[in-house]
Amino acid sequence: MALPASSLRTALLVLLSLGLTLALGLLLPEALKLLFTFVGLACDNASHAIVLVYFIFMLCVAMPSLPRGTLPTQGKAVLITGCDSGFGLALAKHLHKLGFTVFAGCLLKDKNGEGAQELESFHSNRMKVLQLNVCSEEEVTQAVEFVKKNLENPDTGLWGLVNNAGTSTFGEVEFTSLDTYKEIAEVNLWGTIRVTKAFLPLVRQSKGRVVCMASMLGRMAVPSRSSYCISKYGVEAFSDCLRREMYRWGVKVIIIEPGNFVAATGIFTKEGVERRGQDMWEQASETVRDDYGKAYFCHQVARMKAFVTSGTKDTTPVVNVITDALTSKYPYTRYNPMDTYYWIKVQIMTHLPAAITDNIYAS
Ligand SMILES: NC(=O)c1ccc[n+]([C@@H]2O[C@H](COP(=O)([O-])OP(=O)(O)OC[C@H]3O[C@@H](n4cnc5c(N)ncnc54)[C@H](OP(=O)(O)O)[C@@H]3O)[C@@H](O)[C@H]2O)c1
Repeated sequence: MALPASSLRTALLVLLSLGLTLALGLLLPEALKLLFTFVGLACDNASHAIVLVYFIFMLCVAMPSLPRGTLPTQGKAVLITGCDSGFGLALAKHLHKLGFTVFAGCLLKDKNGEGAQELESFHSNRMKVLQLNVCSEEEVTQAVEFVKKNLENPDTGLWGLVNNAGTSTFGEVEFTSLDTYKEIAEVNLWGTIRVTKAFLPLVRQSKGRVVCMASMLGRMAVPSRSSYCISKYGVEAFSDCLRREMYRWGVKVIIIEPGNFVAATGIFTKEGVERRGQDMWEQASETVRDDYGKAYFCHQVARMKAFVTSGTKDTTPVVNVITDALTSKYPYTRYNPMDTYYWIKVQIMTHLPAAITDNIYAS
């Protein structure tokens, strides 16, 4: 008779714990003693060896900014999407300052958007601004042609692709239309996939980097943000699959998971939240309006308006980790620029049982 899946899972977990305990308690000290003897060091005390292993482990985990070697930027080209504002605009300027050739994709270049104008005012042959709506197949194809034509050395390909363009909104599931879900996913998820597929041959050519902008909300799902969360969970999954596929090509795929930087970028405005609140209420069904009630709904909108001015007010931590992802010899797979409050929240939400986290956060 087949064992039920839950019993099998429990048995596997117990076996794994036992295995780990045996490995750490018996095999590791013995292996370390052997190693120490082999290299001629006097260390017959296993606890010393374990302390040493833990020390090295702590050094690696607790000090993520240990020097890992930096690659030169000269002669390297990077394409960034969504450079009209926020992280994209700041990153384009920063990478240009570091010596990269920057292809800055702007949604509003054709409409003389402020961000595009600011970047064009550099009048630098290393700052190339191009029209790029990540939802448009045509514009993405044109962008590939533009980059190919303007690469300083076409044989070296494109060093980096930063999938930064993104959009967001809020609203509980029953107030969020299917069109809204599709609109958010169209930019954040399908846009990322569309642009990545188009530029991968050029990035493979240089054994370069694909950097995908996810979010802490790509790791923890919170109320009122389902349309955004599903798009960023998708970005995480896509990037993880791609990283494993690209391993044999020498291309590194890196995920950025910023915390709350809404006050530092243009992703939310008070007016936008107000407008969206009105639309949601008007478009909700009568049943939903009656069941939730206007007072509850207004309270949620007010909370969202307060959120707009919260969080870290400076884009630097995000710009710095993307720079590390593009320039470090050994970049990390994931970067999580965020303040301590959100870091702890993410750890709690992703490590504790739902029975506990739902009690704390589903309010
Ligand atoms: N700010 C945060 O707290 C935070 C946290 C985690 C992750 N992120 C992510 O960081 C990325 C950058 O966002 P941000 O915070 O810097 O906000 P932002 O200032 O609004 O920047 C996003 C940029 O993407 C552009 N964009 C929107 N739709 C586009 C499209 N179809 N094609 C090309 N570009 C498009 C936007 O242009 P318009 O403004 O003209 O629409 C905007 O310039 C996003 O992927 C976002 O999800 C942000």
